[in-house]
Amino acid sequence: MDAMTATVSGAARGAREHGRAGVVIRVNGPLVEVEGVDGIAMLELVALGPARVTAATVAIAGERATLQAYEYTGGLQVGDRAEATGRQLSGLFGPGLLGQVFDGLMRPLSSAPIWLTADRAPAIEDAETVARAWRFAPTAAIGTTVSPGDVLGVVPDAGSVEHRVLVPSDASGVLTWIAPEGERCVVDVVARIGDREVRLGEPWPVRVPRPFRNRPAGSVPLHTGQRVLDLLYPVARGAAAAVPGGFGTGKTVLLQQIAKWSDADVIVYVGCGERGNEMADVLDGLSQLVDARTGGRLIDRTVIIANTSNMPMMAREASIYSGVSVAEFYRDMGYDVVVIADSTSRWAEALREFANRNGDLPAEDGYPADLASELAAFYERAGRVTTLGGAEASVTVIGAVSPPGGDLTEPVTTDTQRFIRALWLLDRDLAYSRHYPAVSWTGSFARDVVDLGSWHVANGDPGWPVRRARATALLAEADRLSALAEIVGPSSLPGHERMVLLGGRLLRDGVLMQNALSANDGFCSAAKGAALLDMVLTVVDACERLIESGVAATTIEQADHGLVLRAREETGPDDADAVRERSLEALRLLEELR
Ligand SMILES: Nc1ncnc2c1ncn2[C@@H]1O[C@H](COP(=O)(O)OP(=O)(O)OP(=O)(O)O)[C@@H](O)[C@H]1O
Ligand SMILES: [Mg+2]
Repeated sequence: MDAMTATVSGAARGAREHGRAGVVIRVNGPLVEVEGVDGIAMLELVALGPARVTAATVAIAGERATLQAYEYTGGLQVGDRAEATGRQLSGLFGPGLLGQVFDGLMRPLSSAPIWLTADRAPAIEDAETVARAWRFAPTAAIGTTVSPGDVLGVVPDAGSVEHRVLVPSDASGVLTWIAPEGERCVVDVVARIGDREVRLGEPWPVRVPRPFRNRPAGSVPLHTGQRVLDLLYPVARGAAAAVPGGFGTGKTVLLQQIAKWSDADVIVYVGCGERGNEMADVLDGLSQLVDARTGGRLIDRTVIIANTSNMPMMAREASIYSGVSVAEFYRDMGYDVVVIADSTSRWAEALREFANRNGDLPAEDGYPADLASELAAFYERAGRVTTLGGAEASVTVIGAVSPPGGDLTEPVTTDTQRFIRALWLLDRDLAYSRHYPAVSWTGSFARDVVDLGSWHVANGDPGWPVRRARATALLAEADRLSALAEIVGPSSLPGHERMVLLGGRLLRDGVLMQNALSANDGFCSAAKGAALLDMVLTVVDACERLIESGVAATTIEQADHGLVLRAREETGPDDADAVRERSLEALRLLEELR
């Protein structure tokens, strides 16, 4: 710990001695101009004024540089000192992230042990922030040759997934020393590879993607526990998905459900410019829920980065990159990670605000011209990879988009669509009629559906592609007929068309709707989801047969379909057998109509 503290404070002193400090010459909200900082580099962090406000360099012209401040600049004066740090915005990644809440600069909001912006010297020099000791257990032997990504040791008690200490990507060679089992702080050296000291926590610049070996072929689904997604618009592990939806259409609830129930090992939840009480809800929800897989609390495999609407705007910009870097950090340990960003629109607003202050030529709707490449830089960090250590792991990125006025042609929504594999569009009419989750079946898409279908076929569910195809066809046909029925009246449609309308209703209300607040229905296993959909499809077939054998459409429509409609709420979240029993019972009741 002392070594690291010494290095950092030494570097800070060095900066002063070598004159890598200049002065503030202009302040305009988060935009600060400085002059006279020797050799200032793009993206280099600068500490401004006595409060050491963190700012990053975004433009350099001769002696002058333009900075983007991540914190409030209130109180900052012209003539204040601007001290270059020699580093980019970085996180110190080690044990102590899981179960904690950070701000956009990775400083703890809860009682997290440490963690920090990179080089805010005061944070790192503060003894308390680095004092927490972790039990480190070595797994590699002195004298062996190690390469990047190899496991050096583990920290067993840092959250509900095992924390693995890896050989950093810039180190390889003979392991000359490793710490014996015992208590270590994050800044302690735990191994030596050649001359390179490896600490329990290593810094990483958050804008730089962490390296991996390659991207393996094939697609593996991420099970979200939300039926409309898993059955109709599945997302692959390592893909990116977006959830656009107007005000109040259920984006946050859907993302929170995914955070709680998807079958990822680690969840990184970035609350970006959203309401503070929503973040409190997430925290509450996660701390109360038991993790079915580990028996612990769900929160112990979650990292929350909160940059609520009342916090400095520019930190939103950083929070997205911090979030995805944390995700890559756990990916490199071999885990499947999901990053959730709510909302990317609030993040884009921060980009816009800064660009406007900077006098950049605005592109569409006032957003900066590089909006698309900024969005790409975020979404393209998603991926299913072979890690440097040889494990298969993934980062799946899911971002909410809140288009102003629900206008889906606005730039953030349209640019986002270029970089994602699945789009879960939330429909205002569905939300108004309280059909939740309000995922539209006309505007959503899943680009990996064929590959994911093949995965299901090869992994125990050969009926998956046919089931999905029948469901989407039934929805489309029911939509078409209900438009027709509105004109001609439903009773004037032929019997089998009325059965399509009935089937559409059973499918929407009995399968696609899902009550986030219900203990039985909030999460749905793949088997139960398949059983529910199979039930509706067999009931529809049975109804068609009844029509053929002369039973009146009205009789079938007016029969009690409660057994089908209530199955999702009345059977356990993984009870496919109970659904199948109901299905048989429903078919028996229909036969009685003959
Ligand atoms: N799956 C669901 N089950 C039950 N209720 C839901 C569900 N999804 C949304 N709701 C209801 O809709 C309300 C609004 O949802 P939510 O806050 O997620 O919308 P939003 O799109 O995030 O809104 P904003 O644009 O304000 O961020 C919730 O408070 C809840 O009452
Ligand atoms: Mg919301």
